[in-house]
Parts: sequence; structure tokens; C-alpha cells
Amino acid sequence: MNQGLVMVAYIGASILFILSLDGLSHQEKARKGNGYGIAGMVIAIAATIYAVQDNGLIVLLPAMLVGALIGIILALRVEMTQMPQLVAILHSFVGLAAVLVGIASYLGSGGLDSGGLDSNNLEQGVAKTIHEVEIYLGVFIGAITFSGSIIAFAKLAAIMGGKPLLLPGRHVLNLLGIVGSIYLGSEFLSADSVDQGVLLLLVMAVIATVIGAHLVMAIGGADMPVVVSMLNSYSGWAAAATGFMLANDLLIVVGALVGSSGAILSYIMCKAMNRNFISVILGGFGTTNGSIVPTVPGAVSGEPAGEVQSVDVDRVAVMLNQAKAVVIVPGYGMAVAQAQNTVSEITKILRARGCKVRFAIHPVAGRMPGHMNVLLAEAKVPYDIVLEMDEINDDFPQIDVVLVVGANDIVNPSALDDPSSPIAGMPVLQIWNAKSSVVLKRSMASGYAGVDNPLFYRDNTLMLFGDAKDSLLGVLSRLK
Ligand code: TAP
Repeated sequence: MNQGLVMVAYIGASILFILSLDGLSHQEKARKGNGYGIAGMVIAIAATIYAVQDNGLIVLLPAMLVGALIGIILALRVEMTQMPQLVAILHSFVGLAAVLVGIASYLGSGGLDSGGLDSNNLEQGVAKTIHEVEIYLGVFIGAITFSGSIIAFAKLAAIMGGKPLLLPGRHVLNLLGIVGSIYLGSEFLSADSVDQGVLLLLVMAVIATVIGAHLVMAIGGADMPVVVSMLNSYSGWAAAATGFMLANDLLIVVGALVGSSGAILSYIMCKAMNRNFISVILGGFGTTNGSIVPTVPGAVSGEPAGEVQSVDVDRVAVMLNQAKAVVIVPGYGMAVAQAQNTVSEITKILRARGCKVRFAIHPVAGRMPGHMNVLLAEAKVPYDIVLEMDEINDDFPQIDVVLVVGANDIVNPSALDDPSSPIAGMPVLQIWNAKSSVVLKRSMASGYAGVDNPLFYRDNTLMLFGDAKDSLLGVLSRLK
């Protein structure tokens, strides 16, 4: 096996992964970015197969086949609306892999024996300590990622309730777990035998598993997206730690890329939701004055607090026909109804009639970063009329009609008006400043954060009840 060739392939794959991230950060280049990522992964897998051809193929190929099969089935079956939970469960695999590789690496190196620690050989001693620190850290981060991701999956898939679990003294419990793990780590580094070392590693893994589960259980409501992206970051660091254990440069680079991009994304999302990163990590969002705000999607907290004006599709078609400037605000309901193509058709007709149509995208609209952009791109809505919240928020007073397609929390004025609201401080699309708004949804149910929306009771807001796609098909046929 030519080690140099493997190195060159790894460097090539790393460059392609960096180009892929760059591409994925711009809509126009996203497809190309995906292509780079696929090419990088093909090279990485081919180089790995080549690198282990002499002794590992018998284990590697069946494992790859099983993994690929599971991946293909999942990818074919998953609905767009289930992507966040799929991503969460995939992170748990990375965490579990880091734990298993850590333990195997410790046993494989024979702990004390195989390193052949010679007390006179300082260099070997230092190398052994560094290797064991890598193993310990990898298992610790991996176990937190594993259990945290499983809880995040269960919450997003509504297998578990979304309410934050707030045990008394929960920060002290977490702190005790961390201090205990540090103590066990020092014992691990000076373990007398492999058996003792493995035992300490396993005890720490159990503690880290409890910390991970507890951390995520304490987080609820609208903070879940940040948690998923934070677990994404952890899974990257776990992979990087695995790379150090296995002395695999590619895994180190890719792990660091995932770790840092996940951390940056978490920060951006915290900024978009006006949340403090540390308080998100420490959990507890979703509570006010000790009472817990229901956070399960579709929760019906916040009883409807007023009269609403409902309209039918005929009236909405007339309003759109007369409008000179229209803004469409897509939300999670557009994804559920799969209404993006109908939205795109309506946009085409209005634009052909000289109406200025634009889209306003909130950073956390839907259930994952970029959710709305992906759907609109799929429906071939031109990129130049899809604007970010900050680019369009000041324009609403000049807008004749705002069409809110299955959005709720991201257009909730209580985020700005009501300091006691669980979403207080979250920047929102200020569509109530427009001349009129039409909100498409099926009922008066709340959105993801489980809070009532005073927008629906405003004088210039009209409600078009029903499935968003059905309603829009009705509007489209009248427009035609
Ligand atoms: P939501 O506030 O969740 O509101 C979605 C609305 O869509 C619901 O009120 C629902 O009302 C309506 N809806 C559902 N199915 C529909 C259908 N078939 N036809 C018409 N309407 C339908 O969504 P949003 O405004 O996009 O805000 C996103 C929320 O999710 C935020 O709280 C955000 O923090 C959170 N979150 C975001 C992410 C990311 S990263 N984007 C990830 C996880 C969570 P009805 O039931 O009455 O129809």
C-alpha cells in the first residue's frame, strides 16, 4: 500500500469538503457545493478501502454495505418535515462511534502493555499519555453527543414531550458529573492495569451519557434548533477526537470542519432568536415564572384571545389581483402542505401582471436552517426575490398584501411587545406594518413555541383557514 497516495487522496478530499461548505453557504452555488461534497466523500471512501486492503477489508466491506443500505432506505423514506430528527439521530451514531472507537483503541493498544511503556523512555510515556487523553476526551464528547442526540431525536419526533425537564439543582448535578469525570480522568491516566483503565473509561462514559441526556432534556421549545446544531458541532469534535486516536488526518480535518461550522451555525441561530448561547446550552428555556410553557408542536397553549376575520379564496384572489406589492412569508406549514409549487405558480402569474412579489425568510422559519430556501429553490422561485428578514423588515409599510403561508411564531408581535412572552426578544417579521395580511393555516392552533399569536386579531389581518396547498390552489384557479 502506497502511504503517500493515501495522503494525497486525503488532502484532495479535505479540499473538496472545504469547497463544499463554501458552496453550501450560497443558494446559487449549493448544488455545486453538494457535488464537491459527494466527490470528496467518494475519494475518502476509496482511499480508506485502499489503505486497509491488506488486513481490514473483511470487516470494512460488510459494515459499509449494511451502513449504505440503512442510509439509502432512510433517505428514500424520510419526509422533508422529518429531516431535523433524522439529522439528530445521525449525530447519535457519530457519538456512539467515537465511544466505541475510543474503547477499542484503548484495548487495542493494550493500555499500558502495548504502548510498551518503559519508565526510562520519557518520549514513549508522553506519547502514551497524549493518546490516552485523546481516548478519554473522545469517549467523553462521544457519550454526551450520543445520549443528547437521542433525546433531541425523541423530542423532535414527538416521542417525548417537548417540555424542559428542570430538576432542582440541575446545574450542580451537571457540574458534579463534569468534576467526577475529570477526577476519573486523572485516575485513568495513572491506571495500573488495562482492566482498571477500561473500567474507569466505562464509568466515565455512563456519567457523560447521563450529562448529555440531562442537558438536552432541560432544553425545550424554540431552542431545539440550536441544540441540534450544537450536537452537530459536538459530533464533529467527537469525530476529530476519533481522528487523533486513529492517527487519521482526514478524520481530524473533517471533524474540525463539522465541529466549527456547527458552532458557528449555533451562534448565528442564537443571534437570530436573540438567545444567549450559554443559557441555551444550560437549558431551561420555555419556562416563565416557574410555569412551563407547552412546547410540543401544535400545542394549544395560549387560548385564542379575540375575534378573527376570516376570508375565502375569492376575496384573496381579488386582493392579490389589485396589489402592486406583495410579500410572501413561508413557514413550517408550507412544508407540511407541500405548497411550494403552488406558491411559485401564483408568484409567476402576479409577476407577469406587473406586481412586485418578494419572499421574506426568517432565519428559523420551518424546522431546520435553510428549510424554506430549499423548498423555494425546489419550486424554482428566482433567488433574487427571496430576501432575508433584515433585508425586508423595513419595507412592510409599503406592502399591499402579505401572504403568510403556514407561518406563526416568526410573525408573532408578542416577541416584541410582550416581555413576559416565552419568545420575547426573538426578532420577527413585522408584517403587521403592511397594509393587509392574509394568514393561511388550518386552525387557531399555536406554532412550535406553543404561544398564542396576537397578529391574528389585528384589524389588518385576515385568516384563510384550510390546508395551505388546497387554499392556494383555489386562489391560483381564480387568478388564472
Ligand atoms: P410555526 O410557528 O411552527 O407555525 C407553523 C404553522 O403552520 C402552525 O401554526 C400550523 O397551524 C400551520 N400549519 C401546519 N400545517 C399546515 C398546513 N398543512 N396548511 C396550513 N398551515 C399549516 O412555524 P414557523 O412560523 O415557520 O416558525 C418556526 C418555529 O419552529 C419557530 O418557533 C422556531 O424556533 C422553531 N424551530 C425552527 C427550526 C429551524 S432551524 N428553522 C428548527 C426547530 C424548531 P395549524 O395547525 O392551525 O394549521
